[in-house]
Amino acid sequence: MREIINGERFVLGTCYYPEHWEQSLWEEDLDRMLRSGIEVIRIAEFAWNLIEPREGEYTYEFFDRFLELAHAKGMKVIFGTPTATPPAWLTEKYPEALNADQDGALYRHGARRHYNYNSPVYQQFCRIIVEKSAARYGPNPAVIGWQIDNEVNCEVDEFYSESDTAAFRRFLMEKYGTIGELNRAWGTVFWNQTYNEWEEIYVPRKTPHYTNNPHQMLDYYRFVSDSARKFVRMQAEIIRKYCKKDDFITTNGLFGNLDNHQMTKESLDFITYDSYPNFAYCLDDYEEKDLMKDRKWSRNLAETRSASPAFGIMEQQSGANGWSTRMEAPTPRPGQITLWTMQSIAHGADFVSYFRWRTCTFGTEMYWHGILDYSGRDNRRLLEVQEVSKKLAAMREIAGAQYAAKVGVLRDYDNVWDARHDQWHQRVDQCSHRSLFTALQLTHTPFDYVYFEDAVQSVSGEGCSCAADSLDADRETALEKLQKYEILFYPHAVILTDERAELLEKYVFAGGRLVMGCRTGYKDIFGKCVMEPLPGRAAALAGTDIPEYSFVAPDDGKVLADWDGTLIEAAVFNDLLTPAGENAEVLARYASSYYAGTPALIRNRYGKGEVYYFGGAFALDTARVFLDKLGVSEPYGSRICLPERCELAAREKDGWQYLFVLNYAAQAVKIELKEEMQEIFGGKAVCGESEMSPYEVKIFKSRVRG
Ligand code: GAL
Repeated sequence: MREIINGERFVLGTCYYPEHWEQSLWEEDLDRMLRSGIEVIRIAEFAWNLIEPREGEYTYEFFDRFLELAHAKGMKVIFGTPTATPPAWLTEKYPEALNADQDGALYRHGARRHYNYNSPVYQQFCRIIVEKSAARYGPNPAVIGWQIDNEVNCEVDEFYSESDTAAFRRFLMEKYGTIGELNRAWGTVFWNQTYNEWEEIYVPRKTPHYTNNPHQMLDYYRFVSDSARKFVRMQAEIIRKYCKKDDFITTNGLFGNLDNHQMTKESLDFITYDSYPNFAYCLDDYEEKDLMKDRKWSRNLAETRSASPAFGIMEQQSGANGWSTRMEAPTPRPGQITLWTMQSIAHGADFVSYFRWRTCTFGTEMYWHGILDYSGRDNRRLLEVQEVSKKLAAMREIAGAQYAAKVGVLRDYDNVWDARHDQWHQRVDQCSHRSLFTALQLTHTPFDYVYFEDAVQSVSGEGCSCAADSLDADRETALEKLQKYEILFYPHAVILTDERAELLEKYVFAGGRLVMGCRTGYKDIFGKCVMEPLPGRAAALAGTDIPEYSFVAPDDGKVLADWDGTLIEAAVFNDLLTPAGENAEVLARYASSYYAGTPALIRNRYGKGEVYYFGGAFALDTARVFLDKLGVSEPYGSRICLPERCELAAREKDGWQYLFVLNYAAQAVKIELKEEMQEIFGGKAVCGESEMSPYEVKIFKSRVRG
């Protein structure tokens, strides 16, 4: 059985850097960790020089010594591959391994993640060091799993080296076959961008006003994702040859321009996320008005869960944030380490590892605190970690339980990446996703992100040669995946493929409810606008025609729509709707601007289900009205009454339901149980009103209801 994330119990870990400390500290550190309930450490992810100090000279003396001690102590180890930090000797002799900025100027040695994925020389160095390390430590009894690289695509998620251009050309050749196809796909006849030869194509370079061809940009993001995935897969395939049967392979964090879902499927056993909720309190980013603050990390955790239903946290914040060059955020207040650990667990994590054990006394991260401060003395944070470990033992039965949600928010990488370059798309997308998340949180409505994972994602050709029946089987599973949800929000499916539209039709036809927002269906898979009447491929499903549309004019202020007497904001952009077909019914009309009176919301009955097409982006209040009117908010409202500042999450296992209530406020709050439930910490049956102290987390157990 796997040592962590095995459905049996929760496990705590920490990130440890034996190379930062005198060897004389190792033993005491490991002993103190174990006494504090920390059973796993992650090591080595930046330590290339300790293994290959000079080209071709390999030594495992340092890690042999450390692993021997770890094993003797009974400490379990996740071993990292060091490929996020190529050594100076390597980049000095082979500068082609370096990434570059958009002008082609190389990022130099001196920080980290300065390499590119496509350099054949770098790939070869990585292959060798991964192979040698996996061969040596795969069988090691202390090692229980592997972390590939560190935070793939963190810090920089754009690559402009010469190797990237060469690989981009290969990627495009494979995708389009001929230069003519590429010219058509990218619409290069516009502004005379036509290419005659593949050699004329580059990764996007600096252009006046950065107005690079949008279709090229979309393919470029797909290419970056493809390159990162291949880099991870190359390492995973090597490690698999050597690791023990129950050992796992993971990588940490979720970053841009990367299809984390596909990467997980093809290379990993699960993802581990890095959770730093105190970023919400960074001086530069702090927003007094932001209702979510550290609670926003629940959105990232939901993203993680969607890519990797079982997951862990490789780096959970345990001290103040801060690099010597950027970011400052305060030390977690008493109770917040527990709160954020439980936030991760409420969302499905069964393994939580704190970043980091001791705070480093040197280097860029000397202000980035771990559990212990510089002196290493016992402190309040260590005591809190020890308390967390006791709590995890008391809630052991919850390990392996599934996060339970009836509301899904649909996403797909084509639209995520289209919204990165396309400002119209970006504005509606950001507004609606932020609002929906906040509204779902404030109304205590658990939800999942649900990603389309269809063949379109397989950009490097895999999947395309699948037999027809296996594709049909995939569609079946995709439909079942959607049918777990009573209602799906797909706020702005700007790019809507036939395959996805068909799946949505099946979902709705069979009784599902779907909510869509403005700008749906106006682009094809290349990011080009369609000529069919909008909302394009969604027109029949939505029973909607859109003869006209406009950005919300700034001098119109908030454009409102009247939905049975409730005024809702149609934010950012307005589709002016007309019902189409006999099952379409106007539910709301614009109440301001020159288009007052025009339909703003149409409900179309389709088979046993229904589709709501809303002409705007969803503002926060609008999202709340949708949740209320569609009857999905407060799904546990008849059993538990909570203030808005508390999050509610539910995990279910073996017929039991565990309701997590998390108080993010610095003040005590009152909650009320309307029926008797068992409180996990304390083990008593409880009912009625009670108080939760600042940052407190309570878990209530009851039978799952049908
Ligand atoms: C993560 C990273 C760690 C450390 C930490 C604090 O992004 O994986 O190596 O840098 O942040 O900055």
